[in-house]
Amino acid sequence: MSDNLSNSILIIDFGSQYTQLIARRIRECGVYSIVKPNNLKAKDVIKINPKGIVLTGGPESVRSKNKLTIDNKIFDLSIPILGICYGMQLIGDCFKGKVDSAKKKEFGNSQFLIKKNSKIFKNIRTKKFSVWMSHGDKIKSLPTNFNIIGESTNSSICAISNEKKNIYGLQFHPEVTHTNNGKVIINNFIIEICKCKKSWTTTNIIKDLTKKLKSQIKKEKVILALSGGVDSSVVAALLNKAIGKQLTCIFINTGLLRKNEVQEVQDNFSKKLGINLITVNSKKIFFQNLRNISDPERKRKIIGKTFIQEFEKQSKKMKNIKFLAQGTIYPDVIESSAKNKKSDVIKSHHNVGGLPKNLKFLLVEPIRKLFKDEVRKIGKVLGLSTNILNRHPFPGPGLAVRILGSVTEEKVKILQEVDNIFIEELKINKIYNKVSQALAVFLPIKTVGVMGDKRRYDYVVALRSVNTIDFMTASVSTINYNLLNKISTRIVNEVSGVARVVYDITSKPPGTIEWE
Ligand code: XMP
Repeated sequence: MSDNLSNSILIIDFGSQYTQLIARRIRECGVYSIVKPNNLKAKDVIKINPKGIVLTGGPESVRSKNKLTIDNKIFDLSIPILGICYGMQLIGDCFKGKVDSAKKKEFGNSQFLIKKNSKIFKNIRTKKFSVWMSHGDKIKSLPTNFNIIGESTNSSICAISNEKKNIYGLQFHPEVTHTNNGKVIINNFIIEICKCKKSWTTTNIIKDLTKKLKSQIKKEKVILALSGGVDSSVVAALLNKAIGKQLTCIFINTGLLRKNEVQEVQDNFSKKLGINLITVNSKKIFFQNLRNISDPERKRKIIGKTFIQEFEKQSKKMKNIKFLAQGTIYPDVIESSAKNKKSDVIKSHHNVGGLPKNLKFLLVEPIRKLFKDEVRKIGKVLGLSTNILNRHPFPGPGLAVRILGSVTEEKVKILQEVDNIFIEELKINKIYNKVSQALAVFLPIKTVGVMGDKRRYDYVVALRSVNTIDFMTASVSTINYNLLNKISTRIVNEVSGVARVVYDITSKPPGTIEWE
């Protein structure tokens, strides 16, 4: 994808919660965008050679001692710049304007008024429109050689520009959907001002990636740990297009997968796409290693370790493998390179697709520049079923972290049946694609029930469904009560061993999405 760099927009990240959204919005307009941390130097920018630069918002104040700064030489490269929120204040600060704390902080909707014609407002028909604000500071006196091009309810300097140098500052967020005309503004910056070509299309991405994979892999052999999830599936389909039979996918059946999942993966990849697929039945060893283990973290660690052992065992049987393919995507890359992000490790996420680097293979990561929505679009063009592409996330350790306490085959079997009814009903009732993640949890406690005049004493299961954008926070899906009732009746009638069904109404935080 190096071809696209010279037709790209560089986003310099100052810790905004909207950084990835800006990157996606630009790509939606058909232009490649990359995100780099704020410690980037002017010489690095020259190497990237972007057509334009966006300075993001951020939680800091340019007046604070610990403020995040920019290499000022970047302003001398004659590359058009758009500063958003903190990015605008940084421009104000660097060009000798005055930034002060706003008397009235603005969060949420505000009315914006265009005060002066500017290239950034081309094709906007109304002078006044609604914008989304989120700031505590504002520019009090104008930086040198800049004009005020817009004001808002609470800031008389809400948009500024130096049209000659092509530097623009917006106090509001054009990337969020609550800002009217936001898309037009972004499009104006990248197309009218930066003169980018709209070359970032699904067809071009596939063409580029296939070419790159062919030249990287040549005649060598590649293995891929297929999990059945979206990312590894799309990597499989891409590699299949680029190198065909040089690819072998290894699918480890941990015994902790969903009902019919093994069959579905085999049908989709082996039968439909004709990919070399080896399914390893490792159920026995997983159940053996998990015997009497109740602690969630220990379960995760054991599963991660067993997975790697099983994968290694299989890969050693295969001769002359040079490459290992992985489904790393762009948000993973940005997260791990962001220096200023604080993150709490609440659970150790052993993604079974994430294999250790010491497996003595060279890595191939064809989708590491792509966002999830782009990965899905590519998958669609490559012929993957919507069932795979629209699948809710499924944790690497599988049903083991949805069975509280120790894991046995009997409990997995019960949970598979429960989960299957829940998901099936959500699909039949067209709810599945409206919620972000739905799951069932096995509770190792027994409860009394009555069925056909007979007393029964069986397990409890919990159903959970959440809506979320980033899986960091989530709200409970408000599933219609009648539907929940129907699902509960089906579960108790059809799954032997279950006597009671409850619906989890805890949001995240304080709850996590998975129960363990
Ligand atoms: P939590 O439970 O932390 O989950 O709110 C957030 C998202 O991460 C998924 N998850 C995992 N994914 N390995 C994974 O690959 C794991 O160990 C794991 N634990 C949680 C979870 O399903 C949700 O989408």
